[in-house]
Amino acid sequence: MNLKLCEVTSQNVHALMEFPLRPGQERFVAPVANSIAEASVTPTAWPRAICDGDDVVGFVMANFDPDNELAAFRCGIWRLHVSADQQGRGVGRFAVEEVAREARRRGNEQMTVLWVQGDGGPEQFYLRCGFEPTGERLFGQILGARSTHTAATGTPPTRAS
Ligand SMILES: CC(C)(COP(=O)(O)OP(=O)(O)OC[C@H]1O[C@@H](n2cnc3c(N)ncnc32)[C@H](O)[C@@H]1OP(=O)(O)O)[C@@H](O)C(=O)NCCC(=O)NCCS
Repeated sequence: MNLKLCEVTSQNVHALMEFPLRPGQERFVAPVANSIAEASVTPTAWPRAICDGDDVVGFVMANFDPDNELAAFRCGIWRLHVSADQQGRGVGRFAVEEVAREARRRGNEQMTVLWVQGDGGPEQFYLRCGFEPTGERLFGQILGARSTHTAATGTPPTRAS
């Protein structure tokens, strides 16, 4: 794999809106088209195509908003999708580490993510990527946090979801 994050452009926007998730995963994340629309009116949003060479294999959107009144929204992953046929190959972890790298570059020590619990959901993935539940819930979702520095050793995938 030759993974990299790329800016969203007129060249890749259609591929970004067309790649499928696995059946049932749509309930855990908003469509990419919604994220791109939100990013266009949110200056703090950081949307990126996840590319393997010239192919779009996913989408990640971070938010870097140091003045947000909610600490949970100052630095973190807002959306993350990996194309159905590319899941389980390390693409999601790559995107998390790239967001961590950008967060560090901006001087952040900690990053957050919100996830929905449920069968087929992303909880085990985020635990494997080193996020730990803070004990807070926002909008009915679990708030997880991790250092932007630590290698993603993660929690063994034993937590019930
Ligand atoms: C969640 C998602 C982004 C994971 O992407 P991915 O590319 O398949 O994940 P990776 O291959 O990078 O996996 C990283 C680690 O998490 C583990 N993992 C990933 N999904 C898992 C799952 N459903 N259950 C258990 N472990 C999982 C992998 O086994 C791997 O573990 P390792 O540390 O032993 O290597 C992807 O499944 C997805 O797009 N889901 C639908 C959208 C979604 O829920 N997004 C999150 C919204 S907050």
